[in-house]
Amino acid sequence: MSTADTQEFTPRWLAAREGADARARSRGPLPALAAHGAVVADLGCGTGSLARWTVPRLAGVRHWMLFDRDPRLLALAGGRVPAPRVEGRLLELARLRPDDLAGATLVAGSALLDVLTGEEVLTVADAVAGTGRPAWFTLSVAGRVVLTPEDPLDAAVAAAFNAHQRRGGRLGPDAVEAAIEAFARRGYRATTFPSPWRLGPDPAPVTRMWLEGWVGAAAEQEPRLPLEDYLARRREQLDGERLTVVVHHDDLLLMPPGDRP
Ligand SMILES: C[S@@+](CC[C@H](N)C(=O)[O-])C[C@H]1O[C@@H](n2cnc3c(N)ncnc32)[C@H](O)[C@@H]1O
Repeated sequence: MSTADTQEFTPRWLAAREGADARARSRGPLPALAAHGAVVADLGCGTGSLARWTVPRLAGVRHWMLFDRDPRLLALAGGRVPAPRVEGRLLELARLRPDDLAGATLVAGSALLDVLTGEEVLTVADAVAGTGRPAWFTLSVAGRVVLTPEDPLDAAVAAAFNAHQRRGGRLGPDAVEAAIEAFARRGYRATTFPSPWRLGPDPAPVTRMWLEGWVGAAAEQEPRLPLEDYLARRREQLDGERLTVVVHHDDLLLMPPGDRP
């Protein structure tokens, strides 16, 4: 398992990123979702971060349905969702069917689309379209990162990281475009909202973990890049509170045929 895999899915990484996610997630889709929040199906729920953000902001959430293929994360999420009714389901999204989403009024996911393959996104789009409900996917990586101060190696690290994200058929930075296309073929209308992480200059754990994961994935992808010195330079800037990073993400609102965002 690579550094990037470890960071994506460990409770420690999910906890570290929860604050940055909460600050970044766009409020833009909430008015369009106001009438749809009664029963939310949260795909790839992790430890339930999306529920903790959404329930206080979306009126009338009665029931939160958690879906993940990782039983350990699902168990952690179960006790930490502030909704009147909470239900967990161990499920591989490659096998998601409309019946699995029965009763949901909204299908959601956070930091999910970019770790799926194109096939998996088509399967999710089919299942959601089978319900006729809206979908909302927050915090998909856009593939653009801006570090200040600049470094001559930034572009090479970013390119290697993006290639690493696409390993094994994962969509990585192509995820939002692929989802828009998949849902458009099923009559859904898409709106995107920028949701960038803004990290630093304080050396918070999320910034350090992100930096190490970003460079670690790039080194795994392109072992010939001279990244030891690069990482040392960046760590020194972080420790000296001289590093800021913008990691661009997009939130995606998908409204079914007949409904308008
Ligand atoms: C990057 S984490 C995000 C977790 C959570 N949504 C959050 O924002 O903190 C991705 C989550 O999706 C789950 N996941 C990834 N691929 C999946 C699949 N094919 N089927 C089910 N769950 C999946 C992982 O187990 C993990 O919990």
